[in-house]
Amino acid sequence: MDELDERVELIPLGEAKALAATEFAKQLLETAVDYKELRMMYACAIKEVQTKFEVLETEFKVRYQRNPISSIQTRLKSSSSIIEKMIRKGIPFSMENLEAQIHDLAGIRVICSYVDDIYALADALTSQDDITLVEKKDYIKHPKPNGYRSLHLIVSVPVFFSRQKRQIKVEVQIRTIAMDFWASLEHQMKYKREIPDQQHIVEQLKNCAEDIARVDREMMDIRRRLEESVDEPTEDDILIARLKKLDTPIL
Ligand code: GTP
Ligand code: MG
Repeated sequence: MDELDERVELIPLGEAKALAATEFAKQLLETAVDYKELRMMYACAIKEVQTKFEVLETEFKVRYQRNPISSIQTRLKSSSSIIEKMIRKGIPFSMENLEAQIHDLAGIRVICSYVDDIYALADALTSQDDITLVEKKDYIKHPKPNGYRSLHLIVSVPVFFSRQKRQIKVEVQIRTIAMDFWASLEHQMKYKREIPDQQHIVEQLKNCAEDIARVDREMMDIRRRLEESVDEPTEDDILIARLKKLDTPIL
């Protein structure tokens, strides 16, 4: 999940920025109690949203005999990534600015097999009445120039603590297995300082992204056609179904 937030850390900081980073780090340490409390609250918000996806997964499985979610990854943004991002965006360090302007402190990535499941899950999540959609970026309909595809949502979710209720923002990335495969390879490239023939790799990646998008569409199309063709059960099918009933777990 680190790939979700560590992608720019290796960009060398100039002297002024390095000083700012040290200053930010000191301020974080000075406010350690509040900062830890903040991290705890964001970790809880991740749990809330993760549970919502797990509930949707269970419902889909029972209703359609098919699992829409292949896996879920979560991460709380590391302190060094927070510092890097606040410097990069020119945000003066304070706990208030951190909360108001860094939307991906809490991150959850949901990996699906099929593109239509991405939208079904996103709609199901954002139509829940305790979820507020803060921002939506559809990099599937509008891929980044490098070929990056994913659906990004920033949602706000209420979390109940012993003495207070807090609205907390969570970044949700929903993508297919193939898009995720692509993003992790592309991310590796960003981490390398020197790559021989980089331009060629960039082009290769872009071509792969397009191939992947085509394969994702075709896989979904095949699945839909298979779902449409309902076979009449044969006598053997009926017999096997009756036999299966005898296998009801005893223990
Ligand atoms: P950040 O400031 O980096 O968080 O970007 P942003 O605020 O403009 O948000 P955006 O929705 O574009 O990206 C958020 C996250 O999506 C990143 O932190 C990455 O995890 C992922 N992401 C976005 N673009 C790319 C990309 O080109 N390649 C890969 N591998 N991941 C990307
Ligand atoms: Mg980010």
